[in-house]
Amino acid sequence: MRKSFVAGNWKMNTDVHSSVKLAQGVVSGCKDVVGKVDVAVCPPFVYLQQVGAALQSSHIALGSQDVYFEQKGAFTGEISSAMLKDVGCAYAICGHSERRHVIGETDELINKKVHAAILGGLLPILCVGELIEERKANKTAEVVTRQMKKGLAGLTPEKMSAVTIAYEPVWAIGTGLTATPQQAQEVHAMIRKLLAEMYDRKIAGEIRIQYGGSAKPDNAGELMQEEDVDGLLVGGASLKADDFVAIVKASV
Ligand code: PGA
Repeated sequence: MRKSFVAGNWKMNTDVHSSVKLAQGVVSGCKDVVGKVDVAVCPPFVYLQQVGAALQSSHIALGSQDVYFEQKGAFTGEISSAMLKDVGCAYAICGHSERRHVIGETDELINKKVHAAILGGLLPILCVGELIEERKANKTAEVVTRQMKKGLAGLTPEKMSAVTIAYEPVWAIGTGLTATPQQAQEVHAMIRKLLAEMYDRKIAGEIRIQYGGSAKPDNAGELMQEEDVDGLLVGGASLKADDFVAIVKASV
């Protein structure tokens, strides 16, 4: 049985004060579901340490929104997996759609990041998902298959146990246009079948696949009802502790 996993991606939001308040709100709101669902929050890099302190002795994990693939050296502005581990991160989001489509990250770069995260002892959350024009052109399966194959290239079966996949249709991110549970399930099932082909059925059955894209308290429960939806990656709604906690509770 896959344990549900809900992560909050705070993106480029919050400040010193509000990041700590938000983390404290998540910790206290999630107290009664401790152990029943895995929960993580991914604040901006600059607030990782203080958010980590606010999460101390709670069951809420810390995650980063990105990671660079080199371990150290002259890479101005970048952050390595060793640094993230050092400040208490457990997870690292890799290949978020905003990094793919706003910053211009390629599948090859994202693959290096996934490898670097695992090498550094982090658990990568690999994001995949199609643009609206790709969906309209019936290319969802093709795009997601490419992102999966290239993003996971070279990962041994042992390393795959560290990975979470997040299916985030780009047209649903930050738009209020959530995928229907059926639309999500269709792609999640396709991803799991692909994992069985790339690895085997056991591994495919163990890997958690989150849905992301306008997940909210009022749609989390129905999305989580779907067989292959194992959790949620939450953007906007993770910025309000009450909403995020409600999503976590709907995911138990
Ligand atoms: P959203 O973002 O929940 O605001 O749509 C999700 C994400 O980008 O991870």
